[in-house]
Amino acid sequence: MKAKHDRLETNVLLLASSAGFTKEAIELHCAHGYLLHQFLSPLSNRREDAYGGTLHNRMRFPLEVFDAVRGAWPADKPLGVRISATDWVDGGWDLAQSVAFAQALDARGCDFIDVSSGGLSTEQKIVVGPAYQTPFAAAIKAAVNMKVIAVGLINDAHQAEAILRAGKADMIGLARAMLYDPHWPWHAAHALGVALDYPRQYERAHPSRAATAGINAPGNKTPTKNMSIKSST
Ligand SMILES: Cc1cc2nc3c(=O)[nH]c(=O)nc-3n(C[C@H](O)[C@H](O)[C@H](O)COP(=O)(O)O)c2cc1C
Repeated sequence: MKAKHDRLETNVLLLASSAGFTKEAIELHCAHGYLLHQFLSPLSNRREDAYGGTLHNRMRFPLEVFDAVRGAWPADKPLGVRISATDWVDGGWDLAQSVAFAQALDARGCDFIDVSSGGLSTEQKIVVGPAYQTPFAAAIKAAVNMKVIAVGLINDAHQAEAILRAGKADMIGLARAMLYDPHWPWHAAHALGVALDYPRQYERAHPSRAATAGINAPGNKTPTKNMSIKSST
């Protein structure tokens, strides 16, 4: 694997230094049946060399990739990993192995772990419900020092807040709720009574100003007979 490793390190360095690559954080994908997850899971990893078999061996390549990225990525910029905490298949990757992998990442300078699940096997039987992956995040959080992201059917601001306050996770990830409502964070802040700064053009839409005049709010021009609403805004 030596030549492959040299190429891996070169690719990581190229990625980190490529023009216009100005991202502030990297999340290394080890979930959802992608390559690094395939190395981790005993369902997909059938290798008989040093990269297959025992848990230690199956974690080897994902950890080598992590080390290569960590080495190329600035130490002061966050690097995290997304995992599938379970394959949802008997005999597959599971929470106990995820805890061991998370601890190995933690010891190597991983800043956060994003705890998802599934995506590797068509045999998976996922038990879906509100915050259904959060118990996995909580179990991993109890075993590591790095930050933990809970994700999966966390749609409500109070539900998200309760997870954080219970110490089950440090951050919440949202996908579908944000697609449905791109202003979810603003609406969550309002529901939780948190004051935020909004872009000026959005301020008048805030519920706290719902009872104020719309187009005639202070500071706006009062429409006259000859002034269309469009030209007055
Ligand atoms: C349209 C869509 C695209 C997604 N694409 C990705 C992806 O590229 N990589 C990934 O790790 N997860 C992806 N996901 C999964 C989400 O990141 C998230 O883990 C999952 O939807 C559960 O969270 P939710 O209940 O808040 O949607 C996607 C989800 C949706 C709905």
